[in-house]
Amino acid sequence: MPTPSPNPHLPFGDQRTAPWYGRDIISVKQFGREDLEYIFAVAHEMHDMVDHIGTFDLLKGKILANLFYEPSTRTSSSFTAAMERLGGSVIPINEVKYSSVSKGESLPDTVRTLECYTDVIVIRHPEVGSAAIAAKAARKPVINAGDGIGEHPTQALLDAFTIKEELGHIDGLTVTLLGDLKHGRTVHSLARLLSLYKVRLNYVAPDILRMPAELIDELKAKKVEQAEYTTLDQALPETDVLYVTRVQKERFTDEAVFESVKGAYVIDPKVMKAAKERMIVMHPLPRVGEISPEFDDDPRAAYFRQMEYGLYVRMALLAMVLGKA
Ligand code: NCD
Repeated sequence: MPTPSPNPHLPFGDQRTAPWYGRDIISVKQFGREDLEYIFAVAHEMHDMVDHIGTFDLLKGKILANLFYEPSTRTSSSFTAAMERLGGSVIPINEVKYSSVSKGESLPDTVRTLECYTDVIVIRHPEVGSAAIAAKAARKPVINAGDGIGEHPTQALLDAFTIKEELGHIDGLTVTLLGDLKHGRTVHSLARLLSLYKVRLNYVAPDILRMPAELIDELKAKKVEQAEYTTLDQALPETDVLYVTRVQKERFTDEAVFESVKGAYVIDPKVMKAAKERMIVMHPLPRVGEISPEFDDDPRAAYFRQMEYGLYVRMALLAMVLGKA
């Protein structure tokens, strides 16, 4: 939405002065360290509330539009669960082929339609910049749930929250991002977000899937320590967080090129012998072979716990943009 302006018709009880009230969440560039501390504190509280009472009425009567132009399991269902845990409800539009999008409706028109019926819109779309376009068209808050190979800010927030909850702090850590760093929107957002902390970032990728040079330059200007590798062995022993990603098949135009890199790295108990005893392995999921299920029982395997942290972070974000946190 453009600039949040106080609306005299808002229902009583909305905290129009809350810092995130009415705001869009499009890029991690919107967040500073203080924002993160605040989100983590609210997410922590959400965790306690879910543990103690399960579902509560903070967003009773509020409606979320979950608009997904690309496949999703975790992001869409965790936003649904987050809204329902807070007493709100959801209009899910996952199969855009059954909506007016298939009749050629533009994204701004679809968004303008949905905001007539809802209070907040979560959108995933294959094009970079689509969430910003949606936000420009909408008066209600828009949350980017992935815009092509661009950004995935809510994933990065839940990733940072996972690191904080699991390891107690973020400053001073060495974080190794592994896999498809060219097309992976989660790693683009996460690297940017982690640049708010004093971290060392290692990028491990096949040559054709390296972290985009512009992003490396952006972080270099912020004096972030960064190093690139094509194999994991050098980076693994010093790693506190190993963030594994899937090679993003849907972003390749040439199947043969995808085949040539798809099995580039596999994390298994044998590989992990070289890693620290106290560190974590994360993955935004879905995994398609890059982490062996044999590693799942290792206490360092944090990827399933990471999904749960996502629920609390998304509860926090919904409460914030709807003026209830
Ligand atoms: C990621 C995504 O969609 O970018 N998934 C997710 O949201 N948890 C990662 C991926 O699809 O590889």
